[in-house]
Amino acid sequence: MSESQFWDDVDDYFTAHLAPEDEALRAALRDSEAAGLPSIAITAPQGKLLQLLAQIQGARSILELGTLGGYSTIWLARALPADGRLVSLEYSPRNAEVANRNIARAGLDKVVEVRVGAALESLPRLADEHPPPFDLVFIDADKANNPSYVEWAVKLTGPGSLIVVDNVVRGGRVADPDNPAPDVVGTRTALELIGRHPRLSATAIQTVGTKGYDGFALARVLP
Ligand SMILES: C[S@@+](CC[C@H](N)C(=O)[O-])C[C@H]1O[C@@H](n2cnc3c(N)ncnc32)[C@H](O)[C@@H]1O
Repeated sequence: MSESQFWDDVDDYFTAHLAPEDEALRAALRDSEAAGLPSIAITAPQGKLLQLLAQIQGARSILELGTLGGYSTIWLARALPADGRLVSLEYSPRNAEVANRNIARAGLDKVVEVRVGAALESLPRLADEHPPPFDLVFIDADKANNPSYVEWAVKLTGPGSLIVVDNVVRGGRVADPDNPAPDVVGTRTALELIGRHPRLSATAIQTVGTKGYDGFALARVLP
């Protein structure tokens, strides 16, 4: 058996016993695929991790960058109380349309708002609304802009908030300082910015699984 077959089998095993998907989550993936969206959503164990992190935070408000078909949005929004709020920023109107249907099917349309447009245009507008600090920010959009997204996440959070940055390993390419690819440069710049930021305490973890070899960074906003 190949190594990646083991990764798939273990993810399936974890999903079955620890992070089972209900019909709303399965339908979100099914409808995303039927609509031609790329298969780049997080996995069920990763969704459950985000949900647990949001619960551990006691999160009442969540900001997500990169909605796709709303799969991660559903996992996260389920951690919120009935009067909680999740704002998810998505560039593609088509993706947002699919996500809104999936989110409504999951019964989360009162809690979740998907805003269409480039995140770097939506974020200043969101800041102008002076929302209460977000308790958790999940950054999972275009990786080249991750440094700006981290800066915005710090502005829009408060002491004790959690910032999660997805896909920070890029199949191992993140360790190559000479790789000129915008996603690698964006990820490296973001990680280094996080590492020296006076208001953040952080780590990053490598993962393997159904979505290959990657990882995520976790940063806590300091008091
Ligand atoms: C990896 S997918 C998000 C996956 C989703 N978080 C999940 O796990 O279910 C990245 C998403 O970011 C969106 N995106 C790309 N560039 C963007 C930008 N500049 N602003 C907002 N969203 C963007 C893409 O259209 C895509 O839907």
